[in-house]
Amino acid sequence: MTLRQSSDMKKFKECLKTAKEIVILSGAGISAESGIPTFRGAGGYWRKYQAASLASPEAFRNNPSLVWEFYHYRREVAAKAEPNAGHKAVANFEAKTSSSKKVTVITQNVDGLHARAGTKSLIELHGNLFKTRCTKCKEVLVNTDTPICEALTNRGAPDSTVVGSDIPIKSLPHCKKGTCGGLLRPHIVWFGESLDPDVLNKAEAAMSTCDLCLVVGTSSVVYPAAMFAPQAAQRGAIVAEFNLEPTPTTSEFHYYFEGPCGKTLPVALNI
Ligand SMILES: NC(=O)c1ccc[n+]([C@@H]2O[C@H](COP(=O)([O-])OP(=O)(O)OC[C@H]3O[C@@H](n4cnc5c(N)ncnc54)[C@H](O)[C@@H]3O)[C@@H](O)[C@H]2O)c1
Ligand SMILES: [Zn+2]
Repeated sequence: MTLRQSSDMKKFKECLKTAKEIVILSGAGISAESGIPTFRGAGGYWRKYQAASLASPEAFRNNPSLVWEFYHYRREVAAKAEPNAGHKAVANFEAKTSSSKKVTVITQNVDGLHARAGTKSLIELHGNLFKTRCTKCKEVLVNTDTPICEALTNRGAPDSTVVGSDIPIKSLPHCKKGTCGGLLRPHIVWFGESLDPDVLNKAEAAMSTCDLCLVVGTSSVVYPAAMFAPQAAQRGAIVAEFNLEPTPTTSEFHYYFEGPCGKTLPVALNI
């Protein structure tokens, strides 16, 4: 991976001042300072499982109880978390520049923290922890119940010694629409699944017209989001990356700012 010094912040801010359409593309790193683990690095485990291995349709088919325990845990963590200085800087920037700039936030995060920080123009690429989808009738609903069903009370502890609760399927969350009764799942795009075409179209439209893009706290390995910023850079948009460390795509961008984005974003977006 390229070793790279942080770029000239003053120069970046000059570009930001003149930019008209700005996309802020965020990943799990922007929520790390709110105490929400990322999927890569030390926080990437829940019990003995790699978190990403439970975020899959196969895992849900094989053991819906285990996957619901994992998502119950993630819902509880996200519900207790607060937006941090990075989320707030993004929301303030949109509000402050609304008369002169079009700002769109495209996030891979499912924790809802951008919206809670006040971001208005938001595309949640991978769904939301607080939405459910019926596996039978496909209805999507907002659900902030805690726990989401009685059987998940005091379940989901992350320690590696905890064993699965083997909750019977009938006691997991079920659809209440009419007589449907289908098993509910988190409304999340899991590894191996396709993005909602409407959501993807909106994101691609914003990416294809922006003149400046900030890529924040994403490892840039999860597709299709991973190719958004490199494509924008290739067609001439200015791209600035904010991360703790270089990523596989850092060398393709004009600017790179190293450090926790709760520190770097408030400076970068204060124009
Ligand atoms: N908060 C969430 O909603 C959440 C959490 C974990 C995973 N996910 C999902 O997992 C997938 C993982 O992809 P991803 O690229 O978003 O995350 P990732 O876990 O693959 O990568 C996180 C990136 O953030 C960087 N980072 C960590 N802390 C940072 C900080 N304080 N400031 C700046 N950068 C920091 C890391 O260096 C890394 O490059 C996504 O699809 C996402 O939906 C979401
Ligand atoms: Zn249903």
